[in-house]
Amino acid sequence: MQVRELVRRNILELKAYRSARDEVQEGVLLDANESPFAVDWRGIQLNRYPDPNQTRLREALADYTGTRPEQVVAGCGSDEVLDWIFKIFCQPGQDQVAVVEPTYGMYRVMAQTFGVSLVESRLDRNQRLDADAFLEEVPASVKVVFLCSPNNPTGDLLGTGQILKLCREWRGIVVLDEAYVEFSESPSLVSRVEAFPNLVVMRTLSKAFGRAALRLGYAVASPLVTSFFLKVKAPYNLSSLVMQKGLEALDGWERHRDTWRRIRRERERLAEELAATPALGRVFPSQSNFVLFDCPEAGSVCRKLRETGIVVRDRSDLPGLSECIRVSVGTPEENDLFLRELRRILP
Ligand SMILES: Cc1ncc(COP(=O)(O)O)c(C=O)c1O
Repeated sequence: MQVRELVRRNILELKAYRSARDEVQEGVLLDANESPFAVDWRGIQLNRYPDPNQTRLREALADYTGTRPEQVVAGCGSDEVLDWIFKIFCQPGQDQVAVVEPTYGMYRVMAQTFGVSLVESRLDRNQRLDADAFLEEVPASVKVVFLCSPNNPTGDLLGTGQILKLCREWRGIVVLDEAYVEFSESPSLVSRVEAFPNLVVMRTLSKAFGRAALRLGYAVASPLVTSFFLKVKAPYNLSSLVMQKGLEALDGWERHRDTWRRIRRERERLAEELAATPALGRVFPSQSNFVLFDCPEAGSVCRKLRETGIVVRDRSDLPGLSECIRVSVGTPEENDLFLRELRRILP
């Protein structure tokens, strides 16, 4: 199956909007009904529209991920990438997508928003992807599958071999959400988009780069798929300020490695402390910046923690997770406080 055959007809036929700044960004700019009077903020011309092609940012993201700029497009958080995927591949009221539960809830919300029905598969008992089970259970007509590795909220990797097997044997689009990959010991699969034209990898600056407020996520995919992303995205989806701050975050990105190491160390300490707390059940292995654990009366424990000012996430409502709490890795002081209050509250 060719990727082009999965694209909605109206998107194939769509002639993308050509914005004024698509072609020219310098000169006597009298083409975009902008104000001619400079409003400068730290070298950024606020009176001018931003670069719709995200040229410098895509170069920096390609450099960071070891890919090519034509394989990258950035959005307002990786949630915007989800939006493009539904627009391009999913005919409302007709097409179906699949998720592997328990997983990030936004895939489901997006499917509902777009009027696209959702087929649910399950992770295996070790919270890994079982590609054979998926291929057997999920109808071949399903257009897109959303995989999240490391998975939110379980925390662990899905298994590279199984993900690649699905890319190889699945006729649809495989969206791999790697929001937390920098915290894991496993390399990103961005390099595999060369071999698998149906693979779309989603990444973000919200987690490992500590830039959640920027709203800057990106997709790495084949140039064919990114050409559709560029077609459907709003021309000026990223502001000049956001792109500038993104470039600053990516400049000398190796400096963030120390933070990633510190978070990994704290994650291991947090997991060990939780495992040594007798009232708790299983602590799920994590390759991300959070830990999921079984906790009797999770809802009530979360409420009591909240009364002490500590906010964690009750994930008991997700398929296959009863009485589970997800806690993000905080500073060492925050983690100590959380552990102390949790132990005080537990029976
Ligand atoms: C798995 C996963 N993907 C994507 C996101 C959202 O990323 P962004 O902030 O880039 O929209 C989150 C946020 O929690 C997440 O857990």
